[in-house]
Amino acid sequence: MSDTVTIIDNRTGKQVECPVIKGTYGPPVIDTNALYKELGMFTFDPGYASTASCRSAITYLDGEQGILQYRGYPIEQLAEHSNFLEVCYLLINGELPNKVQLDDWENSIKLYGMTHEHLSRFYNGYRYDAHPMSIMAGVVGAVASYYHDVTDIWDADSRLMTAKRVIGKIPSIASRCYRYEAGFPFVYPDNSRGYIENFMNMMFSRPSEKYQPSAIAIRALDLLFILHADHEQNASTSTVRMAGSAETNPFACIAAGIATLWGKAHGGANEAVILMLEEIAEPKNIQKFVNRAKDKNDPFRLMGFGHRVYKNHDPRATIIRQACHDLLDEMHLNLPMFEIAMELERIALEDDYFIERKLYPNVDFYSGLIYQALGIPSNMFTVMFTLARSAGWIAQWIELMEDKEFRIARPRQIYIGSEKRDFVPMDQRA
Ligand code: ACO
Repeated sequence: MSDTVTIIDNRTGKQVECPVIKGTYGPPVIDTNALYKELGMFTFDPGYASTASCRSAITYLDGEQGILQYRGYPIEQLAEHSNFLEVCYLLINGELPNKVQLDDWENSIKLYGMTHEHLSRFYNGYRYDAHPMSIMAGVVGAVASYYHDVTDIWDADSRLMTAKRVIGKIPSIASRCYRYEAGFPFVYPDNSRGYIENFMNMMFSRPSEKYQPSAIAIRALDLLFILHADHEQNASTSTVRMAGSAETNPFACIAAGIATLWGKAHGGANEAVILMLEEIAEPKNIQKFVNRAKDKNDPFRLMGFGHRVYKNHDPRATIIRQACHDLLDEMHLNLPMFEIAMELERIALEDDYFIERKLYPNVDFYSGLIYQALGIPSNMFTVMFTLARSAGWIAQWIELMEDKEFRIARPRQIYIGSEKRDFVPMDQRA
């Protein structure tokens, strides 16, 4: 049997043989490259639901089976044995580092942690109540100006240095978004601390007090960053690749990814969970909201439940659920919000409506709770996602630049506007 699919134009009888490409896993893919050349036709796939936009060796996910792997390593094993910086190395370099390579990697990320002092002035241009994601997109875009001439996107060493700069600088840039709004002075990186601890110090320390985050808080954040580091060709990652395909400065590509991640349909769901829990306000209101979620005449949905791709379980949610419970137990936080969340989780896991539709709490349900427990304001949740996902974005950008099939991304369209018509002078218009 040949590995091709025959596409026949029934109007003309013309046909084209399209090769079928197989990856390591996943459904076979029809290579439709010849379609336009042979049949003069494009394909139409709104939202790219059936389109593979690239070949990638970075992340594999199977929504039906609940599988997520980075470079072949199951997310469960990485969550148990690895840490975020090591995962960054894996995503970018393709292999786990040995001890020397990891030490080297950690040191060089630290080396790139500082930002040019002038960059701190960018924040002052924002209004006091600017959304931190708007600041993130602007400031990361501004970093492009510092490394524009010195970045050779066609040179492997230069690309690797860019990756280190992105991962090194993003915690400082992110923490400043929060501190600018809160009115706290900016904190410089402290290289005696680990990556996550250093970020937390830049977020939460005060000049007047010593600050030391708890080991369990550091671990919870580390875990969240591992789980969010990459998720193959989602909207923001595809945006980074699309921008990169135009040979754009990589920091500008990341800024474009940040803008996309900001959207409610993408990175904004964890914030929506907290807003929903605040709206529920008291445990006695839970059932009312559950009933609303089940009512077909009510558009309300339980935020943090269900997933477009993971239809059995979200492997990230399974991992983070335990960390969330551990953190809440350890911190003895008896806020009504956490009580409501745990009760909501219990009801939804036992209720036939949710069981039949496979609506389980997703990663955003728990990540929102963890961020809340750590004292991170809800408008910073998507910034936290940005911090983690930057690793995936830069790994995907590097892969794109090394791709032998590199071409500018240029989708086509079905034009549905008016036919050609003549310009109408103003005095003759209706
Ligand atoms: N609450 C109540 N009912 C729900 C929910 C929910 N959160 N999610 C889906 N349903 C119901 C739908 O009403 C539908 O019921 P029906 O079959 O009786 O009509 C059924 O479950 C299937 O829902 P779809 O809309 O077809 O599922 P889809 O895959 O299109 O949507 C989505 C997935 C968008 C995540 C949806 O579950 C949702 O809106 N969840 C809440 C928002 C959320 O948590 N988003 C974060 C996703 S995780 C992430 O992005 C990292």
